[in-house]
Amino acid sequence: MRVLGIETSCDETAAAIVERDELGYGTILSNVVLSQIEEHAPYGGVVPEIAARAHVEVLDRLIGQALHEAHLTLNDVDAIAATAGPGLVGGLIVGLMTGKAIALASQKPFYAINHLEGHALTPRLTDNIEFPYLLLLVSGGHTQMVLVKGLGDYERLGTTIDDALGEAFDKTAKMLGLAYPGGPEVEKAAMLGDSTRFSLPRPLKGEERLDFSFSGLKTAVRQLATSLEPLSQTDVNDICAAFQTAVADTLDDRVARSLMRFRETFPVVDHPVLVVAGGVAANKVLRSVLQQLCDKNGFRFIAPPMALCTDNAAMIAWAGAERANQTPPDSLNIAPRSRW
Ligand code: KG4
Ligand code: ZN
Repeated sequence: MRVLGIETSCDETAAAIVERDELGYGTILSNVVLSQIEEHAPYGGVVPEIAARAHVEVLDRLIGQALHEAHLTLNDVDAIAATAGPGLVGGLIVGLMTGKAIALASQKPFYAINHLEGHALTPRLTDNIEFPYLLLLVSGGHTQMVLVKGLGDYERLGTTIDDALGEAFDKTAKMLGLAYPGGPEVEKAAMLGDSTRFSLPRPLKGEERLDFSFSGLKTAVRQLATSLEPLSQTDVNDICAAFQTAVADTLDDRVARSLMRFRETFPVVDHPVLVVAGGVAANKVLRSVLQQLCDKNGFRFIAPPMALCTDNAAMIAWAGAERANQTPPDSLNIAPRSRW
């Protein structure tokens, strides 16, 4: 089963071809991603209108490139999958309409994919992981702990009650005069900083619930930065170090509780797995915190290659391939769902 995947839910335009064999093993035949970061950078965040227009301009070329790099034509593809939500509605319309049009014209089955399901199923493509497992999704738009029980069977254990973690990195960077996207900038500055000079809050630490919260931390950064104005480079580095340490400490506490919950829910799973996905998974300090947490609790820790952690179409094609194996295709009447 070969599937063409299309992803346009945020600021990456992406197309990919993925193959799933009869044993359930996946192979990525091509995976093309065009980031719009440069177009949004002057605004310090994603501008929906600019994103939607940029998707329209490049998507057909990217699909052609994905086929070309896989040495295939559309005839060699068995099904089409496109992200139907959640995301920015303008971009979703572009990708979904394109996917449906190709499916209709080529008489191939169509699968409307939930973007989060794409992230959730990625470790099955990269590492052939069996259900059930835990997924920590930390991106610019999402912060969720998901129990992945089976195909189409997901339980959200916890989510952010305010800002997404990537958003907290981006806003912190902006307040400190660093470039967008802020995550990599904050990580770089933090490496040079003293994490003990300032102490920032650890939101929800110690609480029973499995949710996350980052807006209090962001506010604390703002107050600290304002009190120190004008900021020296050392101040910026030290604030970034304190911020990243607070985030690491918070994640350690929050994720540990979810590992416990997984053990309680699935006491017979011998080799439990925690998977991380989303752009924030690029952060080396946070990765190492998660790795240590897993080592301590007897979990295997999987961080897919960065190109498959951040938004891409291979995960959408793969979700389509998994669905094609078990469920009938979706109707071409399906509409985008920005808050799915
Ligand atoms: O998954 P992603 O590429 O796009 C979506 O949000 O859908 O994630 C982007 C987010 C941005 O907020 C960015 O600042 C953050 O991931 N990020 C990082 C790092 N690299 C990217 N956050 C912390 N540390 C990093 N090294
Ligand atoms: Zn994503």
